Amino acid sequence: MGEDAWTEVDDYVASLLVAHDEALEAALAASREAGLPEIQVSPPQGKLLHLLARMVGARSILEFGTLGGYSTIWLARAMPRDGRLITLEADASYAEVARRSISLAGLEAVVSLRQGPALETLPELEAEGAGPFDLVFIDADKVHTPDYFAWAAEHASPGAVLVADNVVRGGTLAETDSGDETIEAQRRLHEMIASDPRVTGTTIQTVGGKGHDGFTLALVS
Ligand SMILES: C[S@@+](CC[C@H](N)C(=O)[O-])C[C@H]1O[C@@H](n2cnc3c(N)ncnc32)[C@H](O)[C@@H]1O
Repeated sequence: MGEDAWTEVDDYVASLLVAHDEALEAALAASREAGLPEIQVSPPQGKLLHLLARMVGARSILEFGTLGGYSTIWLARAMPRDGRLITLEADASYAEVARRSISLAGLEAVVSLRQGPALETLPELEAEGAGPFDLVFIDADKVHTPDYFAWAAEHASPGAVLVADNVVRGGTLAETDSGDETIEAQRRLHEMIASDPRVTGTTIQTVGGKGHDGFTLALVS
């Protein structure tokens, strides 16, 4: 059993449980046509984000890392029409592709895309008094995941869910001296969660079309 089987299982799950959605398919096609890297969440993972947002009744969501807007659309679709989702994307050309797909999905009024490095956008959000957020999805540059998590925990509503993607990194998370700053960042994230009394969390390993990885899920009290 290897990546082929993992992909087959993803496809099987998607074929039965992830309904065909024109806007999501169009967003994937637009990203592909524009040459964006195919590093968006898988359809079952997109559905998981959507379900989590519905489970917590999210009305306010923050996303780090928009890419072409695929996970953004999944999340925004989980909210009522007066819900608000802020998504942060560093790359101007990706942001342009995402803006078009979000608009085609009819979600312009729900989604606010802020283009620029997230660490530069966060003080602007702070100044605007953005939040508190009911769900935060952290999926941007992995080396800053702990910084984004710390900001999210400060700006989360009670009962909020914080999700950080790509924390297992091919099974290297447990390595103590990898010398790789992205792995060290994920280990720091785990240490932060372990020592922060405001949050409780866990990490689930995943396999799929993009290999062996996983996500951290934390609940804010
Ligand atoms: C894994 S992709 C996001 C995928 C998207 N969440 C999805 O599943 O459809 C990571 C994105 O983070 C963006 N990114 C990288 N560094 C960033 C930063 N400092 N601030 C904001 N976005 C950043 C990348 O340009 C890329 O589009």
